[in-house]
Amino acid sequence: MEARDFELIIGQNIIDRYHADDTRSDVFELLGRQWDLLDDVWPPAYSPGGELYADLIPFGEMSAFLEMGCGTGIMSVLAALAGTKRVLGLDLNPNAVRNTEMNAKRHGVADRVTARESDLYSAVEPGEKFDGIYWNPPFFDAPEEFVDNSIWHETMFDPNFAKLRTFLKDGLDLLTPSGKVYLWFGEALGNPTLVGDLAKETGYTLNILKKVEMDEIPEALADAFPADLVGGDPGNGHAAWHLHLIELTPLKSSLNSQ
Ligand SMILES: C[S@@+](CC[C@H](N)C(=O)[O-])C[C@H]1O[C@@H](n2cnc3c(N)ncnc32)[C@H](O)[C@@H]1O
Repeated sequence: MEARDFELIIGQNIIDRYHADDTRSDVFELLGRQWDLLDDVWPPAYSPGGELYADLIPFGEMSAFLEMGCGTGIMSVLAALAGTKRVLGLDLNPNAVRNTEMNAKRHGVADRVTARESDLYSAVEPGEKFDGIYWNPPFFDAPEEFVDNSIWHETMFDPNFAKLRTFLKDGLDLLTPSGKVYLWFGEALGNPTLVGDLAKETGYTLNILKKVEMDEIPEALADAFPADLVGGDPGNGHAAWHLHLIELTPLKSSLNSQ
C-alpha cells in the first residue's frame, strides 16, 4: 500500500473518532489554562502540538504574528500573552475564527488578537507584514480524488502537500526582513525528507527546535494508527513518524528576489 493510502486511513480514523467522541467537553484544560472549544474545531487536547513548546518561539521580540489555521486560537493567545503586540489568526473554518475570538477574550488579549476567515492568506490586508508566521497544518497527504472540501477533510488532508507548499511560498512575501516561519509537523509516513525538501524548494533554511518521537504521541490518537504501521523498522515496510517544531528562515536570495 502507498504511504498516502496509510495517511488516508489514519486521517479518516481520526475524523471518525472525533464524531464518535461523546466525552468531548466545550471547555478543556491545557498548559494550566481553560480554553473554549466549539463544534467542528480541531481539539488540541487530542494531540497537543506546537503550543507545548511555545516558549521556543520568540514572541516577546515580535511586533506582529500570524497564526494560520488558528483553530481554537491557543497559539495566537500565547503569542499575545508573551508580548506580541498584534496577532492575526486565520482559518477557513468560521467556527475556528469565532473560537479564537472567544479564547482571546477569555484570556484578556482580545485587544491584540484579531481573527479572520481566510483561505490561506486570502484575508491578509495589503501592507500587513509579520515577524512570525505559524501553522499546525493538515498532516496527511491523501489521494486527491478522495478529498472533498468538508471542514474535516480540510483539517486533516493536504493532497500532494499543495497547501503547505503555498503556505511556505506565499509566506515569504509577508515576512518582515528578520521574520521566520514556524511549523508544527509530523513528517509524512514514508517520506522523512518532506519538510526539508519543501523548505529547499520554497526558499528557506530549516532548524528543528523540538523533535518528539512517536511513542510520546498521546493515547487519544494511538488507536487511529494501524498497529502494524508504528514502532517497526522503517526499512521493513513500517513507518517512522516524528513530530517537530520547525523554524524556517528565508534564504537571502528569496528575500532579495522580492
Ligand atoms: C490540524 S488543525 C490545527 C488547529 C490549531 N492551529 C491547533 O494547533 O490546534 C489545522 C487547521 O488548519 C485549518 N486550515 C486547513 N486548510 C486551511 C486553509 N486553506 N486556510 C486556512 N486554514 C486552513 C483547519 O481549518 C484547521 O483549523
